[in-house]
Amino acid sequence: LNAGLPEVSRNPHWNGYRCTVCSREYPRDWPHFVCESCGVDGILDAQYDYGAIGRNLDTAAPFPLSQAGGMWRFASLMPVAPASCHSAWTLGATPLHAPARLREALGLENLYLKDDTSLPSASLKDRAAAVAIAHARLLGRDRLACASTGNAAASLAVLGARAGAACTIFVPKSAPAAKLAQLALHGAKVIRVDGTYDEAFDLSVRAIAERGWYSRNCAHNPLLVEGKKTAALELFLDLAGQAPDAVFVPVGDGCIISSIGKAFRELKRLKLIDRLPKLFGVQADGAAPLARAWQAAGALAESLDGQAILALVKRAAATTVADSICVAIPRNRVKAWRNVAASGGAFMSVSDEEILAAVRMLAARAGLFAEPSGAAGLAGLLKARQQGCIEPPERIVVMVTGHGLKDPTAALAGIELPDPVRPAWPLPPGVID
Ligand SMILES: Cc1ncc(COP(=O)(O)O)c(C=O)c1O
Ligand SMILES: [Zn+2]
Repeated sequence: LNAGLPEVSRNPHWNGYRCTVCSREYPRDWPHFVCESCGVDGILDAQYDYGAIGRNLDTAAPFPLSQAGGMWRFASLMPVAPASCHSAWTLGATPLHAPARLREALGLENLYLKDDTSLPSASLKDRAAAVAIAHARLLGRDRLACASTGNAAASLAVLGARAGAACTIFVPKSAPAAKLAQLALHGAKVIRVDGTYDEAFDLSVRAIAERGWYSRNCAHNPLLVEGKKTAALELFLDLAGQAPDAVFVPVGDGCIISSIGKAFRELKRLKLIDRLPKLFGVQADGAAPLARAWQAAGALAESLDGQAILALVKRAAATTVADSICVAIPRNRVKAWRNVAASGGAFMSVSDEEILAAVRMLAARAGLFAEPSGAAGLAGLLKARQQGCIEPPERIVVMVTGHGLKDPTAALAGIELPDPVRPAWPLPPGVID
């Protein structure tokens, strides 16, 4: 892995980790990923010296472009930083669309779409994989592994191929063909698990521990959420140094929403923004343990501690057309819950029909093709609007997290393709008009 990859250094203001459940602290060279006392539920959170970061920050231009390019301009809020550009980690700066026709259709004049389908493997997960590759380079580790519903694996396979890193990937056998194609073609060692994503995850954690591999499991390796923060930090720059009023995020394991919440909390702590956007975590009705528990918690939701959140969010069978968020027990549920609670937002769920309608709306009105999970955020916004949680002038961002070509079969459900015509003129009546 090291050959030819530029050097990577640690952020001197990254101090270590704290357990999200019991608050126990760990040094930054802690090799076991999760908390010793809490086991796999004890997901750690990277800690920084914000006083020092703030002192070094030019508040007029807080995130100058970096030698490493792309998302590394936010290196002051990341654990590691490469010295220069490389295709395995230089990515980011994805478009923030102001979709005029969608705004008009929805009566939301300040709606934005953050288009992370444009990243190298066509999902937001590349932001995490870039950090994994950089950190593995720093540690001199040569094999990375993960379990994935498909996209995290694809991001590792794509960037691993660019870096020359060996990758082992556990995927449920039901992963869509295009995602499996990405894994196989980019040269990863693919282990197709005859079981669910949740079973593939548990298997990967075991294999990683036994073999001493570098874990690219975002819900396990606490540094990966740090990479995903850059999606939100880009929003802050794109909105001219302001936070939106609300952000809609699809939720599976809860890593993306945790990272977006953390990014805005950090911006507030550094006094770059003065209030947090409300975060809406959107799950599918068929895989909605967080949304269900949130509803059950009612007014208490915002005050629950880690143990209470673990107790309340129950594993349930998961089925949905949105394969990337088809998760029975969100691994990062404590972090996700805390971030949503701190923001004044909520978890919610939407039906598969609502998700597929959002896929079609994004495609037809905004020219963006999202996979079902990638469009779940928009489905959540439509529902929140019906329920009166969103006002038209609010500045709303929908995170579009994965490209539709990853799962075109799902998107075509409910679409009738026209019958073929003979290639002869004149065409039969009614074909052209
Ligand atoms: C396209 C897409 N959207 C959303 C998610 C959900 O992210 P998380 O598991 O971090 O909640 C995933 C995860 O696989 C994804 O691939
Ligand atoms: Zn702990």
